[in-house]
Amino acid sequence: MAKDSEKKTCGQVMDEWKEFFWNPRTHEFLGRTASSWGLILLFYLIFYICLAGMFALTMYVMLLTLDDYNPTYRDRLATPGMMIQPKGKALEIVYNIEDTESWDMYVHSLNTFLSTYNDSHQALSNKECTPNELFTQADSGDIKNNPKRSCQFNRTILEACSGLTDPYYGYDVGKPCVLVKLNRVIGMLPGKNNQSPNVTCKVKKDNENAVRELSFYPPDAAFNIMYFPYYGKKSQVNYSQPLVAVKFQNISVNTDVSVECKINSEAIANPTSERDKFAGRVSFKLRINQKV
Ligand SMILES: *[C@@H]1O[C@H](CO)[C@@H](O)[C@H](O)[C@H]1NC(C)=O
Ligand SMILES: *[C@@H]1O[C@H](CO)[C@@H](O)[C@H](O)[C@H]1NC(C)=O
Ligand SMILES: *[C@@H]1O[C@H](CO)[C@@H](O)[C@H](O)[C@H]1NC(C)=O
Ligand SMILES: *[C@@H]1O[C@H](CO)[C@@H](O)[C@H](O)[C@H]1NC(C)=O
Ligand SMILES: *[C@@H]1O[C@H](CO)[C@@H](O)[C@H](O)[C@H]1NC(C)=O
Repeated sequence: MAKDSEKKTCGQVMDEWKEFFWNPRTHEFLGRTASSWGLILLFYLIFYICLAGMFALTMYVMLLTLDDYNPTYRDRLATPGMMIQPKGKALEIVYNIEDTESWDMYVHSLNTFLSTYNDSHQALSNKECTPNELFTQADSGDIKNNPKRSCQFNRTILEACSGLTDPYYGYDVGKPCVLVKLNRVIGMLPGKNNQSPNVTCKVKKDNENAVRELSFYPPDAAFNIMYFPYYGKKSQVNYSQPLVAVKFQNISVNTDVSVECKINSEAIANPTSERDKFAGRVSFKLRINQKV
């Protein structure tokens, strides 16, 4: 008995559902007539077309305000960051003198990095500029003076750290070279009164005696102001960042040495706040292992 009534209810429910899906008497599909469905679809069609139109218009107006050659919004950091090459693992250059494979990657990464600095390549792509003068290439009003030229930075300037005279950059004899560069900032003028900013490096307090002699290439350890201002990757297609090479001539082996290199420039404020801890400076660890 109970089963019977249940069956009946079940059948009724099925019928109700069928009728809801398609009601042949009223010609309603899912409870609506064809014209009602049509109106709803029409409404949503128009609604979404308007929405898409508004989106496209906003996007178009936004894009109109952008300049292909210049970022509209920039990082407000007043002092640019610095980086070293080779970067090693998390700015740690660690190797064993006797184990060629432990320093081979540093030599390899320097070779790769410096390949565009070859004198022959620089002579082909870049201009010989007048040192100690900003190389400004202004646009005249709306007429963009593009592409802009860049100044030659010849690999030979790096002398002992160029990889040309010493193909191992001193890594094989425990006198490694590290290249220091300034991050590119569009429009930055790092020098004041045509004074080129220079780089100094110091060893962190705990083992000040670990580094006894440093050589810099070029010898003034400066980023000449002729490499500035930088106009961006799209304007200055052949730009070669100026480099300063530091060679550790007499560094303690089998000990961690923390080095900090920073830029000295009157035009670039030396940040002291915690927030700008990494602006205008780069810290890295050097450890050269040697069997005693
Ligand atoms: C740059 O010069 C080095 C050393 O002479 C050479 O091995 C390398 O192939 C050159 N790279 C380019 C891109 O010309
Ligand atoms: C760079 O090297 C090329 C080829 O040797 C030379 O013609 C050019 O004068 C050098 N540029 C600078 C700025 O020294
Ligand atoms: C960039 O370098 C290439 C050769 O490497 C040269 O043909 C071209 O003129 C250079 N462009 C500019 C804007 O200096
Ligand atoms: C390296 O420094 C040590 C300690 O000051 C000194 O005894 C040694 O002569 C130096 N070596 C060279 C090659 O200058
Ligand atoms: C480095 O720059 C500072 C500040 O511009 C200057 O006082 C100093 O003489 C420079 N050092 C060298 C070695 O040129």
